[in-house]
Amino acid sequence: MAKSFFIWTVGCQMNEADSERLGREMAERGLCATDNMEEADVIVLNTCAVRAAAEEKTFGKLGELKELKRRKPDVTIAVGGCMVGADHSDLKRRAPHVSEFFRPIQFESLLERVAPVAAPSRNGVALVALTLGADLRISAVGDGCVVPSDDAGSRTKSRPTRWISVINGCNRACTYCIVPSRRGREASRPISEIVAEARQLVSEGAREVTLLGQIVDRYGRDLPGRPDLADLFDALAAIDDLWRIRFLTSHPADMPERVIDAVGTLDKVMENINIPVQSGSDTMLRRMKRGYTIERYLSLIDRIRQRVPGVTLATDIIVGMSGETDAEFQATLDLLERVRFDVVHVAMYSPRPGTTAAMWEDDVPREVKRERLHAVESVQERIATEINAPILGDTVEVLVDDRVRGRWQGRTRGNKLVFFDHEENWLGRLARVTIARTSPWSLGGDVVAESAASVALRRGLTLVRT
Ligand code: SAH
Ligand code: SF4
Ligand code: F3S
Repeated sequence: MAKSFFIWTVGCQMNEADSERLGREMAERGLCATDNMEEADVIVLNTCAVRAAAEEKTFGKLGELKELKRRKPDVTIAVGGCMVGADHSDLKRRAPHVSEFFRPIQFESLLERVAPVAAPSRNGVALVALTLGADLRISAVGDGCVVPSDDAGSRTKSRPTRWISVINGCNRACTYCIVPSRRGREASRPISEIVAEARQLVSEGAREVTLLGQIVDRYGRDLPGRPDLADLFDALAAIDDLWRIRFLTSHPADMPERVIDAVGTLDKVMENINIPVQSGSDTMLRRMKRGYTIERYLSLIDRIRQRVPGVTLATDIIVGMSGETDAEFQATLDLLERVRFDVVHVAMYSPRPGTTAAMWEDDVPREVKRERLHAVESVQERIATEINAPILGDTVEVLVDDRVRGRWQGRTRGNKLVFFDHEENWLGRLARVTIARTSPWSLGGDVVAESAASVALRRGLTLVRT
């Protein structure tokens, strides 16, 4: 019987994309995915190190696995991703039941260990499955694997929204950040390889791809001919039946004007930009070594808003980094009021081993960090309420990507979450929804129609967009 595998993933979308790639490679080598960790022959933990809390989740899982390994000594446990640095002897010592460690996207030795002989690649070998309503997202099912018959239908349907990593690593050195030391220098994948992957995903049912990179705007600088993200958009926009292209994360000092224009003009590129500011204070930004000032950030936001009508904006904020005073923190709240982002991801500073900031005292007390976090959340909740309220009564286009607790769920072009009830199967279709309810986090409404491209695809035609 074929060996089975289970991949557990924490961290950002990049990690999810990496897990998906690993799952695909395993399936291509004849292994079978299982969604039951207890019964897997190979268990992979794909880890995150961005904050201590992320690492603790992995240590919790490793604790659970100790017991499993005792009961099933033959199980192979592998740990990979951003917790695995060049020197991971500490981790090794803490987890003697782990047989294989691998750095982000360095899958070779793990694959060698679990599937030394590559199975001949067969057509349709890897189906990345969807588990409706559950949070398990990864399952590449190899050819000849058993798919549980009770829900075979839902499991073999591909998710309509998928990730593609286009550039791995980061050449910057923000003082708080561990990512460059774990993911290494920037390395872009060639356009042809990304287009081939996107075509494969589209053939499995994907209608939207999100292009990922720590600084996705730096895509292509290390490739021959120096293509940029706008060139990649053009190449992907030519794929029939791929309706939507998203990208993240943008860096305020690295966003080329050409990319802004491409977002504003290409119909298939969604008007949503994730552009982390981290702090509203210039002195903090200097301490973070971010490479821009608030004045420059605001002028970039103005240019984006002028050239991308209807754009929605998301940002990341760190509160309570070493030395952050009340006044510096207040500048962050002021910035939120000034820019009015649609979405804000906020985190309390967590010192990371090996970073520059780890040498400084972590001097903002935990309670103060927590108060600041809550202050950001409450200001943002009010702003998001105000931004979303006027959408009431509008009809928006929603790509339906899941069914959650009996309701269909999807996203608008601007990435706003929309729920609706309907008896038909809307998965992977573009619905026109009239908004009847708004909240700071999501919208709700009623389907009024299906978009032309979506109708055409179901009828077996490809609509040529003009
Ligand atoms: N490349 C992206 C973000 C990468 S990490 C960028 O430049 O913005 C994702 C987010 O985690 C960051 O935006 C930051 O807000 C947060 N983060 C990174 N290091 C952190 C740390 N040491 N403590 C708390 N949050 C951190
Ligand atoms: Fe980390 Fe800064 Fe690179 Fe983002 S740009 S990954 S925050 S070092
Ligand atoms: Fe975590 Fe690595 Fe992503 S540290 S946030 S999984 S790049």
